[in-house]
Amino acid sequence: MTHKILILPGDGIGPEIIAEAVKVLDVFRAEGSLQAEYEYAHLGGAGYDAAGHPYPEETRKLASESDAILLGAVGGPQYDTLPREFRPEKGLLTIRTDLGLFANLRPAILYDELADASTLKNEVVAGLDLMIVRELNHGIYFGQPRGIRVLENGERQGYNTATYSESQIERIARVAFATAMKRNKRLCSVDKYNVLEVSELWREVVCRVGQAFPEVELSHMYIDNAAMQLIRAPKQFDVIVTSNMFGDILSDEAAMLTGSIGMLPSASLNASAVGMYEPSHGSAPDIAGQGIANPLATILSAAMMLRYSLQLPELAARIEAAVEAVLRQKLRTADIYVSGCEKVSTAQMGSAVMAALK
Ligand code: NAD
Ligand code: IPM
Ligand code: MN
Repeated sequence: MTHKILILPGDGIGPEIIAEAVKVLDVFRAEGSLQAEYEYAHLGGAGYDAAGHPYPEETRKLASESDAILLGAVGGPQYDTLPREFRPEKGLLTIRTDLGLFANLRPAILYDELADASTLKNEVVAGLDLMIVRELNHGIYFGQPRGIRVLENGERQGYNTATYSESQIERIARVAFATAMKRNKRLCSVDKYNVLEVSELWREVVCRVGQAFPEVELSHMYIDNAAMQLIRAPKQFDVIVTSNMFGDILSDEAAMLTGSIGMLPSASLNASAVGMYEPSHGSAPDIAGQGIANPLATILSAAMMLRYSLQLPELAARIEAAVEAVLRQKLRTADIYVSGCEKVSTAQMGSAVMAALK
């Protein structure tokens, strides 16, 4: 069966890192282990430039017809003053809700070879393997009402609303418990129960869903403590489940445990097997066009695509092993470089992964 993969390079370093992930997938296409057709389309600033919209109709149509989507990243300072509806980030948020991609899996794994690249002490991070399950379609990112209004005294006030319904919490909790069952069976739900009603319901529903997973050891932690514990003793965690914004923040934090934000892949899944795969980082405008971005998060996202959407776990494992092999060869992009290693470009890193696959 031929899989339809939609490729959305996006903005900034997006096209550079996507090119490397495609090179890696092409190894499998050439050897016949992956039957796939690619379509390319615009998302984000690229969509705005090409079609006047960050999520062009053409992209929406292709997305609805694909088995999986591989995305680089979106955003850039030149778009930051556009009306919100036309900003790149709005395109990303809309494709996520349009396809119902409510479960965002962000694995933070420290490859042994990168222990020295983390800013944390070796013994704190060595062997780290944690999974953040972030709710992606609701919460304060999407709740109504929202806006900027004028108060009676003439001053303006910005406001957003954090909402979660029981069914929205239930389905992300189920994904988190099922994920924990396949791992070390420990789940930590992160919330702000001591202050927010939305967290009160979150905690109640997570506990209720947990009754169907008696083997999973469930704990709860406040977001502020969780942010601290992730740095103090990250290996206490197996799976973390949390809301949209808390998960956004904790996953960038967790990225630094793995050496660099350039190492953290992600999968955004819905109730069917269709998924979108993207690095957890952004378009890195500060280094775009220089050929120095780390493509590994994107290459590892392609591996997640093979595992979760295309049901090709052996190919996913081969990519992961190739990434490990390349790191053992001491090849490093600038973000994970330490002395004694060889500094390589984005394209050289992609080529090295390709070579390690063969
Ligand atoms: P960012 O993740 O783009 O960059 C943060 C820092 O990490 C920068 O110093 C950057 O150079 C570095 N970095 C990121 N990815 C890297 C990689 N692969 N290799 C080496 N270094 C890397 O976050 P930001 O600067 O806060 O945001 C920039 C733009 O990206 C904004 O427009 C933002 O909205 C957007 N953004 C998009 C996504 C996405 O598309 N999923 C995610 C986050 C931010
Ligand atoms: C991410 C990004 C996005 C988010 C932005 C760009 C909308 O930070 O994918 O982590 O907040 O979800
Ligand atoms: Mn983010």
